[in-house]
Amino acid sequence: MNNFTYDIPTKVYFGEYQLGHLGPELKNYGKKVLLTYGGGSIKKSGLYDKILEEIEKAGLELFELSGIDPNPRVASVNAGAEICRKEGIDVLLAVGGGSVIDCTKFIGAAAYHEGDAWDILTKKVTVEKCLPIITVLTLAATGSEMDAAGVISNPDTNDKIGMMFPVMRPKVSFLDPTLTYSVNQYQTACGAVDIMSHIIEVYFQTDQDLYMLDAVMEGLMKTVLKYGPIAMAEPENYEARANLMWASSWAINGFIRGGKRHAWSCHPMEHELSAFYDITHGLGLAILIPRWMDYVLNGETAGRFYQFGVNVFEIDAGLPEMEVAKKSIEKLKAFFFETLGLESTLTEIGIDDARFGEMAEKAAKLGATKHGFWPLTAGDIEKIFRMCL
Ligand code: NZQ
Ligand code: ZN
Repeated sequence: MNNFTYDIPTKVYFGEYQLGHLGPELKNYGKKVLLTYGGGSIKKSGLYDKILEEIEKAGLELFELSGIDPNPRVASVNAGAEICRKEGIDVLLAVGGGSVIDCTKFIGAAAYHEGDAWDILTKKVTVEKCLPIITVLTLAATGSEMDAAGVISNPDTNDKIGMMFPVMRPKVSFLDPTLTYSVNQYQTACGAVDIMSHIIEVYFQTDQDLYMLDAVMEGLMKTVLKYGPIAMAEPENYEARANLMWASSWAINGFIRGGKRHAWSCHPMEHELSAFYDITHGLGLAILIPRWMDYVLNGETAGRFYQFGVNVFEIDAGLPEMEVAKKSIEKLKAFFFETLGLESTLTEIGIDDARFGEMAEKAAKLGATKHGFWPLTAGDIEKIFRMCL
């Protein structure tokens, strides 16, 4: 078991009627607030008005940046950073899903950098400071509300790059499951896949020496299997939305990682799909993960799939190891494509093999796939993309 440091300094207000704490929490960091949000879902739901009320009650000065896209663009980061510098913003308030929160993290960092924010993503400059960030989460998926990571796209170069800096972790996050009642079936399904994927990326690692964390991960995955379909069928089922919301945070807030190395296999591949074709992150993962599993399943790796099959899908432990392993992948496919109803191939979503070579090279270059559960070269990644057609 490797040594590790565990440090999650995000204060969480979980549940309904917690927004009364928003004003005082913002005030702890100053007077000038930059509110960031996406394409308008928060206006439709009435959340925007409630936030404004709290800001007014607290006597804070409000600035806004709206229109942050899903798969957020570096242009929004630059626009936000410019407001921060010009107006002397004290604290950022991100209201939305992972895209809004990720973008806000880089706004907070880029506020201290005079040049193009893309310099951070290309590692020309590093991040040592970030404006304080408070989030109000409206979609259970990425876990950005409690992690230090963010992913930003640059459509000019077909790049989508994820980075992690401890200073970008939100100071406070408001997790009210009722705010996710308005998330449609498709985004609910994609969110469920994303939560599941974050656990799978850690569960399928070569360092598998913490029984206690295995049990937590298996419990989290079972939570998604149980409550994903309920949330889709009954959007206002509080228990389902609450379980998914808290699972999304715990899937990626550092707890389940323990001392494991942080090499992920499927995310670098999916980020290329989103970078080139601007697809929803969870959908890309749903198509990729089972094909990645098919590709890396072999005599050496079957044991882990066996445990996954028995403990997560409750497959008969008495069956031969390889049979359980294969069944576990079939069960996962059935969950993604039948229960959650997501498209199962790249062809179905209009993606062909034209850019696979280029995408595979880029994914391999980022490095994470080299050290994952089963090391992947660019050639391996290209083959996995082809299995998704
Ligand atoms: O823009 P608005 O109008 O708010 O609509 C959004 C958007 O169209 C909508 N939505 C959000 N909350 C809603 C709602 N619609 C109705 N009711 C609500 N309550 O849902 C759409 C998708 O939102 P988005 O924020 O893009 O989704 P998600 O939370 O899945 O975030 C995806 C982004 O996060 C990155 C992904 O790559 C992608 O760019 N990730 C971030 C990670 C992290 N920070 O650690 C890890 C992940 O692996 C992931 O890569
Ligand atoms: Zn993800």
